[in-house]
Amino acid sequence: MTLSTKILPVSVSLIAFSGNMPDISDPTTKQNLEIASQEVQKPGHVVAFPTETVYGLGGSALSDESVRAIYAAKNRPADNPLIVHVSSQEQIERILLPKLHKIPAVYEKLIERFWPGPLTILLPVEEGSPVLSLTTAGQNTVGVRMPSHPVARALIAHSDTPLAAPSANASTRPSPTMASHVFHDLNGRIPYILDGGACDVGVESTVVDGLSNPPMLLRPGGVSAEDIRKCGGVWENIVMAKKTAGKTEVVRTPGMKYRHYLPTAKVVLFEGCKDGNAAVKKWLESNTVETSKMALLRGGQFASAEELGLSGATERNLGSSATEMAHNLFKMLREVDEMGVELILVEGVEETGDGLAVMNRLSKAAFEVVN
Ligand code: TXA
Ligand code: MG
Repeated sequence: MTLSTKILPVSVSLIAFSGNMPDISDPTTKQNLEIASQEVQKPGHVVAFPTETVYGLGGSALSDESVRAIYAAKNRPADNPLIVHVSSQEQIERILLPKLHKIPAVYEKLIERFWPGPLTILLPVEEGSPVLSLTTAGQNTVGVRMPSHPVARALIAHSDTPLAAPSANASTRPSPTMASHVFHDLNGRIPYILDGGACDVGVESTVVDGLSNPPMLLRPGGVSAEDIRKCGGVWENIVMAKKTAGKTEVVRTPGMKYRHYLPTAKVVLFEGCKDGNAAVKKWLESNTVETSKMALLRGGQFASAEELGLSGATERNLGSSATEMAHNLFKMLREVDEMGVELILVEGVEETGDGLAVMNRLSKAAFEVVN
């Protein structure tokens, strides 16, 4: 499509839930959610919508044409499976698990603790399942999550349509955490963006596989590995999936074989470099780039651009905790990239708590890692 994409504003605070159904007190929000809800029920139609992690690009997980439209709008390789978003457990058991109508017991604690929220679990694709192999990329599992964002939940509940939804960025670009990011990447390629403001978490959901023994952490994200371990039982033994996959291997985890989260500028990631003084100065000795073409994204420890010998560089503060860094990361990468810098120097963070998800995204975005 070549028409301009329409942004539909929605007021997050005016959506309440009684049980699984939304109660919307604002007429504009109601009307715009109705438009989006009609849209996602049509085969081949997709809508971008906010979740608590990042914006998603959703279409019916049960329609071949819709899932194809998602892959096409993003220009996404078809062997990278999509997460199916639901608004209730009842919806999973009724629609996605047509044989046993029961979510495997291994997930009980996780669901109780983290749903609705930024956690994706792998469920079996049962015999007779309506989930398309296009959604699962031919695997015998399907990734499912129940987002906590009121707009996402309302859209899915109101349409009673499980939504296949990857992040609503153009493939390889940083994930969108604001409606304007989606517009930047997908204007003219999708009809509507529901604008519910900035996303809270800022990085995507954590993906876990509890069907394997021991369970696997396929992608670190909005729920930390430490918090998952605290659920006890088999979850105490959760292991990280390996970070890279060969070009011919079936993709088991997100982004394993594709470059990801890429701004146009080159990202240089500084790992464990304290105040950055020695590391940045040493790096500058063998790299000649005008400081006016550089950006510095600081975390909790780096000195200012001026103190690091980068006067004239664009400077942003990602935040002093890993949680804040996760919230700001994609937004600030996009911001400085749009200013036309050639190089983005980024301060890393320890790989604990939310730091694991931050470093996972940064190491995929990085052209060079310095430590
Ligand atoms: O927070 C999120 O998860 C966001 C929002 C929109 O909900 N969605 C998201 O989707 O990040 P996407 O498509 O960008 O990333 C989904 C990742 C894929 O890269 C895929 O590898 C993994 O989840 N995934 C999905 N289904 C899977 C499956 N059956 N087995 C293994 N990995 C799976
Ligand atoms: Mg993505």
